[in-house]
Amino acid sequence: MERTLAIIKPDAVAAKNSGKIIDLIEKNGFTIVRMQKMQLSDNQAKAFYAVHKDRSFFGEMTSFISSGPVVVMVLEKNDAIKAWRDLMGATDPKKAAAHTIRAQFAIDIGKNAVHGSDAPETAAQEIAFFFPDLK
Ligand code: RTP
Ligand code: MG
Repeated sequence: MERTLAIIKPDAVAAKNSGKIIDLIEKNGFTIVRMQKMQLSDNQAKAFYAVHKDRSFFGEMTSFISSGPVVVMVLEKNDAIKAWRDLMGATDPKKAAAHTIRAQFAIDIGKNAVHGSDAPETAAQEIAFFFPDLK
């Protein structure tokens, strides 16, 4: 079993799509190990996205992810990191396959409904960032 960090981003929470996204997560065989609704501070957003600090849109990313409540989850499944990214779909919803969460719920490449860890190291870091007590 593998774990990954998932976030329902402020656009999807504001649009009241959290429940539909959680339903898709469960229907696709993930176990929700932890789940918390919260709003990130500006400093938490900058720390969370620190790997992207040199990208031109870093300021947009951090202000968006801290702009409203998010739902943060630890998901568990065989090959969870890839399985969750497959279910999320491409970063740009215009390029995402029709069955994916981003195709159904994202607004654009920035306001793209969900986040997922991209590798075992980042999954471990991101899980520890939000759920430091989780063993
Ligand atoms: P995420 O980290 O949110 O799961 O998304 P991802 O792996 O598919 O994409 P990544 O390359 O890690 O980019 C992180 C987030 O930055 C925003 N972004 N904006 N304006 C742009 O061109 C642009 N490109 C990326 C997106 O919100 C993306 O999810
Ligand atoms: Mg990423």
